[in-house]
Amino acid sequence: MDRIRIRGGKRLEGTIPISGAKNASLPLMAAGLLTEDTLSLSNLPHLADIVTMANLLVQHGVSMEMNGHAEGGHGGRVISLSAANITNTQAPYDLVRKMRASVLVLGPLLARCGEAVVSLPGGCAIGTRPVDLHLKGLEALGVEIELEEGYIKAHAPNGLKGAHVVFPMVSVGATENLMMAASLAEGETVLTNAAREPEVSDLAHCLVAMGAQIEGIGSDTLTITGVPRLGGAIYSVVPDRIETGTYAMAVAITGGEVELTGTRMDLIESVTEVLLRAGLEMSETESGVLVRRSGDRVKGVDVMTEPFPGFPTDLQAQMMAVMSCAEGASMITETIFENRFMHVPELSRMGANVHVHGASAIVRGSPHLTGAEVMATDLRASVSLVLAGLAAEGETIINRVYHLDRGYERLEEKLAACGADITRLKD
Ligand code: EPZ
Repeated sequence: MDRIRIRGGKRLEGTIPISGAKNASLPLMAAGLLTEDTLSLSNLPHLADIVTMANLLVQHGVSMEMNGHAEGGHGGRVISLSAANITNTQAPYDLVRKMRASVLVLGPLLARCGEAVVSLPGGCAIGTRPVDLHLKGLEALGVEIELEEGYIKAHAPNGLKGAHVVFPMVSVGATENLMMAASLAEGETVLTNAAREPEVSDLAHCLVAMGAQIEGIGSDTLTITGVPRLGGAIYSVVPDRIETGTYAMAVAITGGEVELTGTRMDLIESVTEVLLRAGLEMSETESGVLVRRSGDRVKGVDVMTEPFPGFPTDLQAQMMAVMSCAEGASMITETIFENRFMHVPELSRMGANVHVHGASAIVRGSPHLTGAEVMATDLRASVSLVLAGLAAEGETIINRVYHLDRGYERLEEKLAACGADITRLKD
C-alpha cells in the first residue's frame, strides 16, 4: 500500500488549484439517473469516490464517457452520463459498503423506475450514520419500504406524490435524496429544515438546469413542484470548499503565502472568520483566495462544528492540527458526528496536547510537533496528519493513503509545487 512521506518545516509559497467538490459531484452523478437524456458534468475531480460512484451507475445501466484530465489545474474532467435504459435497480452491498454516498441513488431510482433495492450503508469510522431521515422522507412521498437482509427494499406502487417533509435534524444526504425524488413526483413537496450546504444548492441548480422547479435554493425551506420528466444539461461542479479550507489551514500551520485558485471566498465564510481570528490573512483575488501567514504561529481560537453556514465538520480534524501548533489553548466542539475525534491519538503521537471531554477537545498549542509514522481511519483525519507533518520536525510517514485518494486530488503534487517536502512512496 502507498504511503506518504513528509519532511516538515517548509513554508508554503505558490499557487494551488482547487478542484471541483467531491461532495457535490457524487449527488450530481446520481442525478444522471433522473433523465433519459445526457447529463454532462465538468470540473469533476479525479478521485477514488468518483470512480466508485461511476461503477455503481454503470451497473444500473448508465453509459458514460469521461473526457479531459485534471492535470494542469481546474476545469478538470467532464463526465457525460446517459441513463436512457436503467437495466438494474439494485445497489449491492459491495459498492455501498465502500462509499455511503451510494445511498443517493435511492431517490432517483424510485423517481425514474418506481422501485429500488439499495444496501443499508451501516456505520463507519466517524459515527453510526443512519439513513432513517432519507427513508421517512421517501415514505411521506408514498414509497413503501421494507428493511430485509441488510437491504432497503423500496417501491412506489402509485408513483411518488408531493408532501410536506419536516426534517427533525439537518441532513445533507436526506435533503439531496428527497429533492431528487420530489423533482419527478406528482405535485408539490416542501422540505423544511433542509440542509443549506453549497453542495445541496449545487445539486438544486443542476436539477433546475435539467427542468426541475425548485424554489428557496440556499435556504432551509425548499419547495419542489414535480414535473413529468427531466432533460439533459451541461453543468459545472462547484469548487471544493473543504479542499479550499484544508489548504488555507496548511498555510496557517506552515506559514508562507499561497493563492488558492478556482475557488470562492463565499463558500468558506465561517472558516475564514475563524482563521482571521487566529491571525491568518485571507483576501479574495480575481482567481480565488489569497492566504498568508507572515508572522509567527497562529493563535488558539474556539471552534464548534455546525451545519452550513456554520463551521464544517469536514474541517474539524484539520483545524485541530492547526490548533496543536498554535499559541495558547483552544476548544474544538464536534456537534455533527459522535465519533469524529479518531485523529486525536495519532496527533498526540506527534506531540499534540489534546484532551477530549465528550464532544469537546481542549487543545493546548505547542511550538513543536515531531514527525512520526501515523495512520488514520478516515479522509479528513488522514489529511489532518498531513498538515501536522508539514509543520513537524523530522519525518512523518502517513499510512493508508487510500483514504486521502478518496477526497484529495493530487494532494502531494499540489503541496510539493508550493515547496513542501512531500513524496508518495509506492509499494
Ligand atoms: C455529508 O454526509 C457529507 N458527505 C459528509 O462528508 C459530511 O461530513 C456530512 O454531510 C456533514 O456535513 C457527502 O456529501 C457525500 P448528514 P451525510 O446526513 O449526508 C445524522 C467527508 O469527509 N443522520 O448531513 O451522510 C448523521 O448520523 C464526509 O467528505 C441521521 O441521524 O451527512 C449525522 O450525525 C464524511 N439520520 C448528521 O445527521 C439520517 O437519516 C448529519 O449527517 C441522516 C443523517
